[in-house]
Amino acid sequence: MARRTIVAANWKMNGDLTLVDTMVKNLKTVELQDNVSVVICPSSPYLSSLVEKVSEQALNGAICIGAQNVSEHEYGAYTGEISTQMLQELSVEFVIIGHSERRGYYKETSTQVAHKVKAALNAGLTPILCIGESEAERATEQTEFVLASQLQPVIDEVGIEKFIDVVIAYEPVWAIGTGKTASSEMAQETHQFIRQFLAKANESVAAKVPLLYGGSVNASNCNELFAQVDIDGGLIGGASLQVEQFKAICLATKGK
Ligand code: PGA
Repeated sequence: MARRTIVAANWKMNGDLTLVDTMVKNLKTVELQDNVSVVICPSSPYLSSLVEKVSEQALNGAICIGAQNVSEHEYGAYTGEISTQMLQELSVEFVIIGHSERRGYYKETSTQVAHKVKAALNAGLTPILCIGESEAERATEQTEFVLASQLQPVIDEVGIEKFIDVVIAYEPVWAIGTGKTASSEMAQETHQFIRQFLAKANESVAAKVPLLYGGSVNASNCNELFAQVDIDGGLIGGASLQVEQFKAICLATKGK
């Protein structure tokens, strides 16, 4: 079953207008393989500039725009928040939801994450739903329990059928920004668990959901990771800020 392969850049609170410009110009020279999509998720103040640069370089369609967060509320007195409608107005197509940094530092719960996924889907945005276990949870063999408890509230909130429009990023917290990547076998095993968990609710939907791996992915380890049957691309943090690295990852990524 052919699934879309996605390479998504999560710039977190990094980058500037110069990076937006250089990244887009450099990606223009990359010939993506069939069925591979590149998504760039800069900090929200840079979204409009990214939209502009992508269209200046006639890369609409080749480079998709993503946000790093969105509010679960439609509008109103929520200082500092960004609504789905604002993202839609900027031609944003994807939104990262439930990143472990948001769950950890900003105490986002799986219930709140589920509400955000619902808001994004209702607005026609594709959520990149992040899930993952901590080092202590992996060590005490709670990985599957943790992943299930992060996924189930979203399934309950939006219904499994809607997962056809959801991308899931499995990011073991201990691998994020640490240089410690999960081995390709470990990553595959966990991705397979996620797909089987979804399949218990709906087999045909589960077969179609792109599952991305995230956590210290770089140009040297991406090939082996992305070659795994249930790994459909990656969510790239640190390496996506380095133009040559990110270009190399995009170039190396093969559609399935
Ligand atoms: P990393 O971050 O590639 O720097 O580990 C990935 C992420 O947090 O999405």
